[in-house]
Amino acid sequence: MSREPILEVERLRVAYAGRGGQVEAVRDVSLRVDAGECVGIVGESGSGKTQLCLAVLGLLPPNARRDGVVRFAGAPGDAVRAVRGERIAMVFQDPQTALTPHLRIGTQMAEVLVHHRRVSGPAAREAARAMLAHVGISDPDRCLRRYPHELSGGMRQRVLIATSLLCEPQLLIADEPTTALDVTVQAQVLELLARLRRERRMAILLVSHDLAVVAGLAARIVVMYAGRVVEEAPADALFRGPRHPYTAALIACAPNPDGPIPARMATLPGQPPGATERFPGCPFVSRCDRAVERCRREDPAMVALDDGRRFACHAPLSA
Ligand SMILES: Nc1ncnc2c1ncn2[C@@H]1O[C@H](COP(=O)(O)OP(=O)(O)OP(=O)(O)O)[C@@H](O)[C@H]1O
Ligand code: SF4
Ligand SMILES: [Mg+2]
Repeated sequence: MSREPILEVERLRVAYAGRGGQVEAVRDVSLRVDAGECVGIVGESGSGKTQLCLAVLGLLPPNARRDGVVRFAGAPGDAVRAVRGERIAMVFQDPQTALTPHLRIGTQMAEVLVHHRRVSGPAAREAARAMLAHVGISDPDRCLRRYPHELSGGMRQRVLIATSLLCEPQLLIADEPTTALDVTVQAQVLELLARLRRERRMAILLVSHDLAVVAGLAARIVVMYAGRVVEEAPADALFRGPRHPYTAALIACAPNPDGPIPARMATLPGQPPGATERFPGCPFVSRCDRAVERCRREDPAMVALDDGRRFACHAPLSA
């Protein structure tokens, strides 16, 4: 199958001037998402996942400094802004704040089409109704008349996904789309995203701190640590044999879907370095049980293999 890039990110950096020195939220991140593909980004809290998404979408606050290249369907950076909300859609963690509280769902959804597609009011409302049915809302007419606070968290996230699909985007950026939902609803929303990817050939960049969330959906997984990519691999290869010790630790901490879920999920001891910290070596060194002398002195360079894997480590695990 030919690989047609829909999103290309090259050497992206995001930094803020802070009192304690420069905060480097994203450091030199490169990645690619092809048409119809789901790429997962995982990493613990503070690793730069949301900052990366915001930088891709051109939604960083004005005091952020962004360097690097973002291309959407081959067109350079600023083109992303022009197609945001239309050819690129986004869904974030908190469906409560993403909806306007004083407007009925039908009004907010119809507005998207009237704004982007100049569709008439009644046609927009009908399209909204059909899209709600498509994402599995059983009584779409009733849902259209509701205000956001009258819906459950799972319903609100479905509404947001339906809204983001109205303009038939080629790429959906979903940042922790299920984190605020309970486990059963989480599984339903992930299943919905999987179906939409299949049926619409819509690419998805799926971000989560939870490896189990991206595992079922993403064909490729990018692992971030302290603002950088430390490993990338096809999902099955990553789980079968992680090469970076941080990825191995993440997998060891994730509950086993086939076994009993531990009462308390294991967590990785220690802390990642602060975003203002400067050090010459590997950012994972203080938590790594494979660290060698070189790791303290020298930041490991990214090594790319022929099979689509890449990792940055001086003493990787064997394949
Ligand atoms: N406006 C800002 N000014 C300065 N630093 C910021 C700003 N916004 C984010 N950061 C820093 O950027 C880093 C990355 O944050 P980000 O929100 O991208 O992490 P994340 O991986 O999405 O975490 P989580 O899993 O908790 O959502 C953090 O160290 C954070 O403190
Ligand atoms: S470079 Fe060294 S410290 Fe960093 S992950 Fe690899 S072995 Fe561990
Ligand atoms: Mg985040």
